Amino acid sequence: MLDEYGRSIDYLRISVTDRCNYRCAYCMPPEGIVPLQHRELLTYEEITRLADVASRVCGITRVRITGGEPLVRMGIAELVAQLRALPSITDIAMTTNGSLFAAHAAALKAAGLDRVNISLDTFDEARYRQLTGGGALAPVLAAIETAVALQFQPVKINVVLTAALSRSDVEQLRALVMRLPVIVRFIEYMPIGRQGIAPGLSVAKVKDLLEEAGGVLLPDEQVTGAGPAKNYRLAGAAGAIGFITPMSDRFCQSCNRLRLTADGRLKPCLLSDAEINVRDCLRSGADDDTLAAIVREAVRAKPMGHHLTTSYHGGFERQMCQIGG
Ligand code: 5AD
Ligand code: SF4
Repeated sequence: MLDEYGRSIDYLRISVTDRCNYRCAYCMPPEGIVPLQHRELLTYEEITRLADVASRVCGITRVRITGGEPLVRMGIAELVAQLRALPSITDIAMTTNGSLFAAHAAALKAAGLDRVNISLDTFDEARYRQLTGGGALAPVLAAIETAVALQFQPVKINVVLTAALSRSDVEQLRALVMRLPVIVRFIEYMPIGRQGIAPGLSVAKVKDLLEEAGGVLLPDEQVTGAGPAKNYRLAGAAGAIGFITPMSDRFCQSCNRLRLTADGRLKPCLLSDAEINVRDCLRSGADDDTLAAIVREAVRAKPMGHHLTTSYHGGFERQMCQIGG
């Protein structure tokens, strides 16, 4: 459905947990978060019910499962299967840190997961461990190879621009794109929660490094996905490269999404504390019309844009891991 500014909202990001086996510096405050209790989380049946109404009545056609880390919640493939059974949902994606993905990949594929985004912010074992708060690289590299082998379509690699990303990392990511049909997306760091990290390479610098390593970045509107990335091809590459620039080049005017938090709040915008409690309705036996009215209210409440780049923000109430990245 259209929002107040004429944007078509057809995409729902569903956070299934605020927990994570990582502590990425850009996502979690150093002291961690107080995690939700299990009974506070929407059940898979509640999530599916909401997705059903949002898709049948409100024009949501695509969903993405996020966290925290979605694969730390038990039985995610079951949720994928339930969402897959909804006739009006055409596309199901997942964002994961990759650490647990390889073991679940075949089951997720069989359940009907279409696409996957895996985070990889550096190839350097020590910097990776430091940035993620103890993560190991090997399972993530295996996850990428497994996702490609199982033909998730597409496989995207999320790279947040932090000080952990070196010149050599950019070259290795370029080599990955030459070899594998993956879309590597460089994402500007957003200072959202209580975390604060040093800025890394700029988008312009990454573009220069990619071209210095060989070839010209050719703008490409065709690369799959209607998301906020600006995409490029390199001649001879199996994959593609994208840039997501919430800070240097806001894309709010083409925002197409709503978010559902793990505790059942609809968030009209990632960068606003406004949220609408849908869990209480789900738990008090609300009918489809009532639920649809809440989804419409969330769409109508979408602000025109964010002000992260123009005004100081002392921090949002929810940390990134509590919203779903
Ligand atoms: N800025 C930009 N991207 C972020 N992500 C998480 N926190 C931030 C942030 N502060 C993105 C990362 C990660 C995904 C889960 O969310 O790309 O891969
Ligand atoms: Fe976990 Fe993802 Fe946040 Fe890293 S970015 S701490 S992997 S939820």
